[in-house]
Amino acid sequence: MKLKSLISIHDLSKKEILTLINQASEIQNNSQKFFEKTKGKILGLLFFEPSTRTVLSFSSAMYRLGGQVITYNSDLQYTSMAKGESLEDTIKVVSSYCDIVAIRHQQVGILKKLQSIISIPLINAGEGTGEHPTQTLSDLFTIYKHFKKLDITIAFYGDLKYGRTNHSMILAMSQFNANIICIAPNELQMPDEYIEQAQKNGANVILDKDINKYLSKIDVLYVSRLQVERISRITKETELKSIDQKLIDKLNSKAIILHPMPRVGEINPEIDNDRRAKYFEQATNAVAMRMAILDFYLR
Ligand code: NCD
Repeated sequence: MKLKSLISIHDLSKKEILTLINQASEIQNNSQKFFEKTKGKILGLLFFEPSTRTVLSFSSAMYRLGGQVITYNSDLQYTSMAKGESLEDTIKVVSSYCDIVAIRHQQVGILKKLQSIISIPLINAGEGTGEHPTQTLSDLFTIYKHFKKLDITIAFYGDLKYGRTNHSMILAMSQFNANIICIAPNELQMPDEYIEQAQKNGANVILDKDINKYLSKIDVLYVSRLQVERISRITKETELKSIDQKLIDKLNSKAIILHPMPRVGEINPEIDNDRRAKYFEQATNAVAMRMAILDFYLR
């Protein structure tokens, strides 16, 4: 039997997403419960792009589940790929050393290809400018914890074109009947393919450049950084105005502010102590969600 993998957020049904949210929430209340199935299992982490939160929260999640983690020194010069080994050969071998593998890679489409040559579940830990489904699941968990529902109004603000967290997130939110507002300069606006899929899922999607008129109406302000490593030319048009105190003075008092992190100027630290700023809590919630994900795929 082919084991399930998580490459796009669309690989999960609505019901499965809600199950994962419930599991993450149960884990936060009592993580001991989940130890039996995952004890002694091995997670392989293969990251070909930089990461702090994803790699460490996956490791933390696996250790908290009583499992083990294998990885290589994150500098690829210490792997056999530096000797010319193909990615395919590397993954094929590494997958025989573990029970599940989480991979981050810059090339969109590569994970599907790799999945077809291995026989353990593969988790997308961020694929170039494509998707980042486990970040989305953590984000949905944070939203659900806060509002007890997902049919909310969300405004994406930032680099919606190259920021993969936005792509998985718009697909997921559209499945849950959210109202979606995409705020970005034209150069960084949400790619058509994701807008079309969100509309196909039945969502109402608004595109705009100006955030101000939406601040009083939104439940979630989802901010992300300019993906400088993916943009060939930074111009005045691609600059993002920082979310600061003056701006959030106009934000709905019940709204929350999320950011997948890292932030590099698009959220002013002066708002960190505002009770609506939830981005650090969001990063913390990722461990419980990744525990739920590992438990789910290691069945
Ligand atoms: C994001 C990513 O890698 O896409 N980081 C993360 O996993 N939390 C966001 C980003 O790098 O901007």
